[in-house]
Formats: sequence, C-alpha cells, structure tokens
Amino acid sequence: MGLSSAQGLILLVTASMFAVSLAKTIVVGGSEKWHFGFNYTDWALRNSPFFINDTLVFKYDPPNSTTFPHNVYLLPNLMSFLTCDLRRAKLVADVGQGGGPKGFEFVLRKWQPHYFACTVRDGFHCNEGQMKFFVVPLPHCHGCHGAEIKMGLSSAQGLILLVTASMFAVSLAKTIVVGGSEKWHFGFNYTDWALRNSPFFINDTLVFKYNPPNSTTFPHNVYLLPNRLSFLTCDLRRAKLVADVGQGGGPKGFEFVLRKWQPHYFACTVRDGYHCNEGQMKFFVVPLPRCHGCHG
Ligand SMILES: *[C@@H]1O[C@H](CO)[C@@H](O)[C@H](O)[C@H]1NC(C)=O
Ligand SMILES: *[C@@H]1O[C@H](CO)[C@@H](O)[C@H](O)[C@H]1NC(C)=O
Ligand SMILES: *[C@@H]1O[C@H](CO)[C@@H](O)[C@H](O)[C@H]1NC(C)=O
Ligand SMILES: *[C@@H]1O[C@H](CO)[C@@H](O)[C@H](O)[C@H]1NC(C)=O
Ligand SMILES: *[C@@H]1O[C@H](CO)[C@@H](O)[C@H](O)[C@H]1NC(C)=O
Ligand SMILES: *[C@@H]1O[C@H](CO)[C@@H](O)[C@H](O)[C@H]1NC(C)=O
Repeated sequence: MGLSSAQGLILLVTASMFAVSLAKTIVVGGSEKWHFGFNYTDWALRNSPFFINDTLVFKYDPPNSTTFPHNVYLLPNLMSFLTCDLRRAKLVADVGQGGGPKGFEFVLRKWQPHYFACTVRDGFHCNEGQMKFFVVPLPHCHGCHGAEIKMGLSSAQGLILLVTASMFAVSLAKTIVVGGSEKWHFGFNYTDWALRNSPFFINDTLVFKYNPPNSTTFPHNVYLLPNRLSFLTCDLRRAKLVADVGQGGGPKGFEFVLRKWQPHYFACTVRDGYHCNEGQMKFFVVPLPRCHGCHG
C-alpha cells in the first residue's frame, strides 16, 4: 500500500495493543451512516484502529424517489482508491442491501488494506461525495512492544506508508541495507525505497551505509525525528542521534534494529535539513509484529 499525497489522505494505525479484546461491531459513519457528502476518510481516522474479525456495518436506505441509491464496493488497490477508478471494483453490497435495522455487515477477515467505496454515478459518490475510506485491520497482538502506535499519515509530501502485510507464518528477522546498492546518499528517493521494500517487521535490522567524509565524500548521518510533522517538514529540533557521520562506514555500516511497533522517522540532518529536504534522505517505516495464524 503506497499512501500518497494528492488527496489529503490519512491513514491511522493508532494501535493500542490489547491483550485480549473482543471483536467489535462498528457502524460506518456512526450516526451519519453511509451517505453522500460525509468525510469517511476522517471517520476512519478517528475510529482506528480496526482489528481482524471486527465487523463493519454499512447502513443506507434502499432508493426511492427521494432517497439516493448507495452501494459498497472494494477497490483493488491504493491507486484505484485515490482516483476512484472503478474498473476492477468488487461488489460488497448492492443498493438494496444496506437497509433495515441491521444494515449490511462486513467482517474484516484479512490483514490487508480494504478500500471501500460507493460506486454510484460512475465515481461521483466516491470522488465528490467522499464515500470512500480504507482500513487496515490489525491482528490483536500479544506481548508486542510499544503499547501504542499513533500515526497519522498525511499527504503534502508524497509520503508513503506501507502496511501491505503479507503474513508469514514464521519467518526470521531480516537484515536490510537502506537504499540497497545505493546505500545512504544525497538524492535518492528513500520514501520510494521504503515503499518497495515494505513491510518491515519487528526485530528486522536496517543497515545504514555511508562513507566517512573526506575532501570528496559528503558527510551523512542518521537521526530519528519525533513525529510525522517534523518528518514532513524536516524539522530537526527534536531529532535524536542514531549514527553520526563516522558510523556508517566499513563493510558492516551501522545497524539499527526495529524493536518497537511504532513509526520510525529516519533522516539525515546534515546541512540543517538540506539533505533531508532536498536530498530526500528521509523515510519512515512502521515495523509490524509477525503474525501467527492470521488470515491473508
Ligand atoms: C477529510 O478528512 C481528512 C482527515 O481529517 C482530511 O485530511 C481531508 O482533507 C478531508 N477531506 C475533505 C474533502 O474535507
Ligand atoms: C424513501 O425512503 C425513505 C427512507 O427509507 C423514507 O423515509 C421516505 O419516506 C421514502 N420516500 C418515499 C417517497 O417513498
Ligand atoms: C519519491 O517516491 C515516492 C513514491 O514512489 C513519490 O511519491 C515521490 O513523488 C518521489 N519523490 C520525488 C521527489 O521524486
Ligand atoms: C524481538 O527480539 C527480542 C530479543 O531477541 C525478543 O525478546 C522479542 O520477543 C522479539 N519481538 C518480536 C515481536 O518478535
Ligand atoms: C574519500 O573517501 C572515499 C570513500 O571512502 C574514497 O573512495 C576516496 O578515495 C577518498 N578520497 C580522498 C581524497 O581521500
Ligand atoms: C477470526 O475469527 C475466526 C473464526 O471466528 C478465527 O478462526 C480466527 O482465528 C480469528 N482471527 C483472528 C486473527 O483473531
């Protein structure tokens, strides 16, 4: 799942990890139900996180001369979601199925993004009516670190979060060189790199490789920025040192183990944010817990 800009899109994975908690039933839109002109992206943001086996209820009256028709489809991916491209949309509930006291129930069975949209009027309800949102239901996690993940993901900068979570039954922690063969340097799109290399899992190791500076090699370093806003704006005021200019050298580079289930906002702070802003030397990852016995 690439999460991009362009549309004020927000994903929230505010995930408190509950030891054991029951699956919930959530009415989409709450008392607003499912209608034209309500901001469901915002609703999904405020009502996150969702967990696997939670039930979403879509409520909308069947159409008549005064009530507009609505339906529910799943769009195949982020791009079709962003653009309300309905070509490969799959029916979830048709115009008649959201009525009555119960509405239409959809159980979130899989640990993957679900892109919901109303397809009525060829995308008009989706595009103009804001009748779209997505959720990434999380597994209930027992014994994970980081009792809270709070993560608003917004637009503005071609920011990308990847939560495309293939669930591996059991698989070992990996070691991943940041940037791959490009290593850690000015002018490489690390957001894009993070997108393509996601998901990352807790206990995976990121390796930062950069030569110590000399007369021909620019210095680099690695810091963690405190939150999304500082990441978006390359605000370095509360940045915390991870590795200084001398630590990325040698065959091993600098190793950073992703221990916590929370967003990690990495950046190079050299030249007061110039490497971060102009050099694209920033990215973030949200390592996921490995999930045993999840669907998907
Ligand atoms: C919907 O809500 C989201 C999150 O609060 C916001 O970013 C977006 O701009 C809103 N969209 C509209 C059309 O108001
Ligand atoms: C249309 O349906 C709505 C909701 O079911 C109902 O309140 C309304 O009276 C109906 N209007 C007509 C003209 O049947
Ligand atoms: C970096 O890559 C991301 C994801 O592919 C893209 O959205 C963004 O526009 C790119 N940034 C630049 C400056 O090219
Ligand atoms: C990560 O590794 C530590 C120590 O090696 C272990 O105690 C912990 O359970 C692991 N965490 C996860 C979520 O796999
Ligand atoms: C600077 O460092 C790079 C990489 O470590 C090395 O290839 C290069 O020869 C060095 N240049 C000078 C002038 O020392
Ligand atoms: C979801 O519910 C099904 C059937 O009720 C159960 O087999 C499965 O383990 C549950 N999945 C999770 C991740 O809780």
